[in-house]
Amino acid sequence: MSEIKKLLGFHAVDHNVESGMRIGLGTGSTAVWAVKRVAEHLSEGKLSNLTLFATSSQTEAACDELGLSTYSLNDPRIAGVLDLTIDGADEIDPAGNLTKGGGGALLREKIAAYCSRRYVIVGDDSKLVQSLGVSFALPLEVVPLARRVVLEALRGMGAEATVREAVRKMGHVITDNGNIIIDARFREQHDPGELERRLDSIPGVVETGLFVGMKPVVYLGAGDGSIRELQLSE
Ligand code: A5P
Repeated sequence: MSEIKKLLGFHAVDHNVESGMRIGLGTGSTAVWAVKRVAEHLSEGKLSNLTLFATSSQTEAACDELGLSTYSLNDPRIAGVLDLTIDGADEIDPAGNLTKGGGGALLREKIAAYCSRRYVIVGDDSKLVQSLGVSFALPLEVVPLARRVVLEALRGMGAEATVREAVRKMGHVITDNGNIIIDARFREQHDPGELERRLDSIPGVVETGLFVGMKPVVYLGAGDGSIRELQLSE
C-alpha cells in the first residue's frame, strides 16, 4: 500500500510542479511523498525557487526534517495565492467532491485548496466512492465551547456524532488551530453541496471536511502500481 502512495506523491510532483511556484503541501501518508519528492528535486537542482506552505503541523515537521522552509499564506512571497496544492483525500466521488480531515487538518487544507490555481488530489483506488460520508464519518472542525451545541444539532439532523479522542493523550484531539474535531456519520445519503451549506450554518462549526465543487485533478493509484487520472463526471 505504501508503494502506491509513494508512486502517487512522486507522480503529482513530476507532472505538476515547476520552478518558481508557490505550492501548498497537503497532509497525510500519501501527500508526504509529494513533500519528499519536492525535497529530492530541490536538492538535485531539478527544481528551484519554490515557496512552500504546509497544511498542518505534521507536514511542517516533515519539511523541517527535509530542510525545506515553509511560509504563512500571509507572507508577501505567497500573499494569499498558491499556484498549486497537492493533497490526499479520505473519499473521492465521481464528480471530484471530497471528504477530508481524517488527519484533522481539514481547515488549513481547505484554505489551501480555495486559494490554489491548480488543485491536485492523490489517492489509491479505495478512496473512490459513489456517495460521500456513508462509510467514512465526516469530520467537522468545531470551536470547543460549542461542542454540545454542535453535537445536538448534528444528532437533530440524524447523524451519529462523536468528538474525536486523542491517542496517547487524555481527552479530545485539539487541532492546529486550537479547535476540536467532531466526526459525523449520516445514515442517509445527502447532496454534498446542500449538506455542506447546512453544516456551515451551525454556529460553532468552523469548517467541514466536505470539499465540494473544487474540480481537482485526481490521480488514482491501483495495486499493480498503475496511475490514472479520474475523468470527473458533471
Ligand atoms: C488530513 O486531514 C486528511 O485530509 C488527509 O489528506 C486524508 O486523511 C488522506 O490521508 P492519507 O493519504 O493518509 O489516506
